[in-house]
Amino acid sequence: MTRLAFLVSPSHNRVYAADAPRLAAAELRVLGDRALDGRVSDVAEQTVAGVPYVGFTLDGALSDADTRAIANLSSLYALFETVPGDTDGDAATATRLLRPVLAPRRDVLPSDLLTIQKYAGKTNEDFTRLLLNTTVLATDRPDALGAPADVLTGGPRGERRLRVLDPMCGRGTTLNLALASGWDAIGVDLDTQDVEAYATFLRTWLKTHRYKHAADLSTQRRDGKSLGRRFHAAFGLTREEWAAGRSLEVTVHAADTLRTAELVKPGSVDVVVTDAPYGVQHGTRSRGTGTGRGGRDVLDRSPLALLEQAVPVWSRLLRRGGAVGISWNTRVAPRDALVSLLADAGLEPADDATHRGFAHRVDQSIQRDLVVARKP
Ligand SMILES: C[S@@+](CC[C@H](N)C(=O)[O-])C[C@H]1O[C@@H](n2cnc3c(N)ncnc32)[C@H](O)[C@@H]1O
Repeated sequence: MTRLAFLVSPSHNRVYAADAPRLAAAELRVLGDRALDGRVSDVAEQTVAGVPYVGFTLDGALSDADTRAIANLSSLYALFETVPGDTDGDAATATRLLRPVLAPRRDVLPSDLLTIQKYAGKTNEDFTRLLLNTTVLATDRPDALGAPADVLTGGPRGERRLRVLDPMCGRGTTLNLALASGWDAIGVDLDTQDVEAYATFLRTWLKTHRYKHAADLSTQRRDGKSLGRRFHAAFGLTREEWAAGRSLEVTVHAADTLRTAELVKPGSVDVVVTDAPYGVQHGTRSRGTGTGRGGRDVLDRSPLALLEQAVPVWSRLLRRGGAVGISWNTRVAPRDALVSLLADAGLEPADDATHRGFAHRVDQSIQRDLVVARKP
């Protein structure tokens, strides 16, 4: 039995920070069930010297694989083992001490890939990691989260590395996180300006960090017809890897998400993750309004109506055993509606008490929740 605690990351967003310990506890419970063989118990938020921690018990000793999985929790700042301190001869009144445990994230790219871009409507990076983690944990490959960051082979047993699709990707927070995790990424967004801004950002970032790469922004055509702008980049983590032809890949299409099946091969994606339009000012209205060359106006569809049409399309793109994770504004659609539409698309939503523990406030008009579902 090992007693552990982790310090919750101080979030830059004060509203999110208020909910972070509770969300961190929920994420840990999901991780424990899916990636740590159900060995996590007694999960509790606690305050030590005025600072928020999440404490828990791990059945058995802490292995390297356990540490790697725990290290990727979205709100983990530092991990500690709780050990008895000075007992004064009386075990019952022993002080508990926190002994630091080295727990590096598996990220293969510098964190500024996620933090440099600032724009209205950007999804908070910590929350994006929570959504991606929870979705990967719903797949048949939950171990991918704690696998050593060996991007060349994809995993400890040489599995293929994951392919992550964000079908409403904005300026690419999910895509950058997938790349940082050593996975390939595909994005789709209606707003051509977002796709072009992402292309400019990533090119500059790859140059600044001196990654060997090839990048191309062009108009994709099929049968003489334009399918919209498309950005593709491939890069090596080292010069040697690049020279050996091993690269991480990201592709972003400017298109209506309902057309994703024309752009991405069905059954080719492990994880679909998206922060859906909120149906408020910095969601559907000011961004993604079809003012770019990307397509028609989205204002004719409420976020729920859009998801009703889009989920069956996204579901076809998933491999069996893959999973979809959606975050959305519960002020425009109740949780049960999302769960039903995922089930209607032939997916298996994870809707137990733990998975119902992620709702949180974003601002006055947005109460956000997330739901994940597996493709059987
Ligand atoms: C909440 S934002 C996602 C932000 C993104 N996670 C980021 O951090 O940049 C929702 C996105 O959905 C896009 N969107 C809305 N309707 C769409 C549609 N029909 N097809 C594709 N994208 C759409 C918007 O352009 C917007 O970028």
